[in-house]
Amino acid sequence: MALAVEDFTFVQALVRRKAAIVLDPGKEYLVESRLLPLARSEGYQSIAGLVEDLRKNPHNGLNRRVVQAMTTNETAFFRDGHPFEILKSTVVPEVIEAKRSSRRIDIWSAACSSGQEAVSIGITLKEHFPQLVGWTVRILCTDISTDMLARCRAGRYSQLEVNRGLPASLLVKHFRNEGIEWVASADLRRMMECRELNLAEAWPALPRFDVVFMRNVMIYFDVETKRSILRRLRLAMRPRGWLFLGGAETTLNLDDAWERNPVGRSVVYRSP
Ligand SMILES: C[S@@+](CC[C@H](N)C(=O)[O-])C[C@H]1O[C@@H](n2cnc3c(N)ncnc32)[C@H](O)[C@@H]1O
Repeated sequence: MALAVEDFTFVQALVRRKAAIVLDPGKEYLVESRLLPLARSEGYQSIAGLVEDLRKNPHNGLNRRVVQAMTTNETAFFRDGHPFEILKSTVVPEVIEAKRSSRRIDIWSAACSSGQEAVSIGITLKEHFPQLVGWTVRILCTDISTDMLARCRAGRYSQLEVNRGLPASLLVKHFRNEGIEWVASADLRRMMECRELNLAEAWPALPRFDVVFMRNVMIYFDVETKRSILRRLRLAMRPRGWLFLGGAETTLNLDDAWERNPVGRSVVYRSP
């Protein structure tokens, strides 16, 4: 059964209000493909039944499950390659110099999905910076999706996931094979702390970050939400901290206090 206009409008308003995610007209197919399996697993015949209950009882956990089902969790190890090259060639050497006295590095993988970005950061550090042994290195992994956070904590990935972007030599070195899955090493998982955080709401107290990866999430938000996030992010960073955005994202015309640093064919941003 086709999605009714008023049901689409209801879901559109809900995900905008709760997660700042914008679903433009034309995204009805997305709502259908994401919510039909959820509706069935919750015992409804159709999305209409699920939406009817949401209207009657707006404060139950179903709200949350709908918002989570509407998030796009696409990710990959070493996604796009070049951010991790820049991390290795430019960013970490500068951070090591700047943090020589405290010997502590704080990194944030904001909108971490299942943790493949954070694992890729951890592998980059372990492979190329042996001088960090004895330092405190923390990678805070946050997302709005509790399902993704559970995956991030478990550090378990399928063969298909590790086949995308992870060289075999790094796979056998940093993962353990368990049945049909690959589990990230205890060393990598020790660096990572996975926590629920909605970027569109008030943020809890956070450390001052040296490096932030906030990639492929702002594309889903409206301009005001992007502005607010970029402004608050500046305040959460140490001076001259480093920010990686996704390829389709920028600070330009949103928050020009960020310094734009082209490196090769890519761009990395620095806080004032
Ligand atoms: C496309 S994935 C990007 C994952 C990773 N950063 C990467 O680039 O591979 C987007 C992630 O943003 C999360 N997300 C969406 N809206 C959010 C919000 N308001 N606050 C926090 N995370 C959110 C989704 O749950 C999803 O895991």
